[in-house]
Amino acid sequence: THQWRGLIEEYRDRLPVSAATPVVTLLEGGTPLVPAQVLSERTGCEVYLKVEGANPTGSFKDRGMTMAISKAKEDGAQAVICASTGNTSASAAAYAVRAGMVSAVLVPQGKIALGKMGQALVHGAKILQVDGNFDDCLTLARELSEKYPVALVNSVNPVRIEGQKTAAFEIVDMLGDAPDIHVLPVGNAGNITAYWKGYREYATDGLASRTPRMWGFQASGSAPIVDGAPVLKPQTIATAIRIGNPASWDFALAARDESGGLIDKVTDRQILSAYRLLASQEGVFVEPASAASVAGLLAKAEAGLVDPGQRIVCTVTGNGLKDPDWAVAGAPQPRIVPIDPEAAARQLGLLD
Ligand code: F0G
Repeated sequence: THQWRGLIEEYRDRLPVSAATPVVTLLEGGTPLVPAQVLSERTGCEVYLKVEGANPTGSFKDRGMTMAISKAKEDGAQAVICASTGNTSASAAAYAVRAGMVSAVLVPQGKIALGKMGQALVHGAKILQVDGNFDDCLTLARELSEKYPVALVNSVNPVRIEGQKTAAFEIVDMLGDAPDIHVLPVGNAGNITAYWKGYREYATDGLASRTPRMWGFQASGSAPIVDGAPVLKPQTIATAIRIGNPASWDFALAARDESGGLIDKVTDRQILSAYRLLASQEGVFVEPASAASVAGLLAKAEAGLVDPGQRIVCTVTGNGLKDPDWAVAGAPQPRIVPIDPEAAARQLGLLD
């Protein structure tokens, strides 16, 4: 039967590749679009989760990375570099291995989740922890790529956006048309840019009858687009989107305004509450940053700003296993029992 071939093969005619492009792939894309029962009940809408944590390295970054690394290889690059809050670096490291390239990653010191650091390490990336935040890392990575023979694979590289736009194609292919609203977390703002591009292309070519309103959510301590100015010391427990000066700021504003959408912010408390709801009531374990989309949707619904009956897709961007600390934090230690069925049954409350 049919095996998903990776997004470059599945959407080749919509991507800037040719027969000469060496396709570097881990068969990314083709991720589940899961109907969300509890969120649908709460909003009176038909809500779906685009589960991007199901990608090979556990985040949506693989969509951009298959393109970026394939094009870098086509151009003869032997080394790639990126700045990252953790997921881009995990993805770059894995795809560089596939391509036989060296990867260098710059991460903010002490501010990336353990799972992501583990991925970069095990894939053999050269890792530097920078004494600064993500924005400082990106400035440094750009300078290094200008002065030295190393290709930049951050989302300021336009082929990253090309790869990531395929998530919008998959959603329309699955639903038969674009949703009414598409909700996603916003950090460096590459992904909202990419989805908007994908939806527009499908509408222009008649594969969708319309485009959705784009709803983006930043973390309230790292919300430069909402606050209207760069944040010098961004703060949030959602380290993936702890970004104070997004590279694709203007594109995010265009996506918001052209789609009739919005970009707003949610607190860490709202993010964690959506994170727990997704895991405990929908069965979908995401990392905290990913829950910002759902937190935003719930906040708007509670404020009466979501008309019932709409079709809504929330992208959940990364796998919960990336950052398990938040799952364990505050939870009681599981009880220890002897190897004894009665003792185990008593602890499980099966005896009364
Ligand atoms: N969610 C997750 C899990 C992310 O890793 C990121 C970005 C975002 C959302 C925001 O997406 O930047 O396109 O607006 N992570 C980047 C990284 C910055 O380095 O992994 P964006």
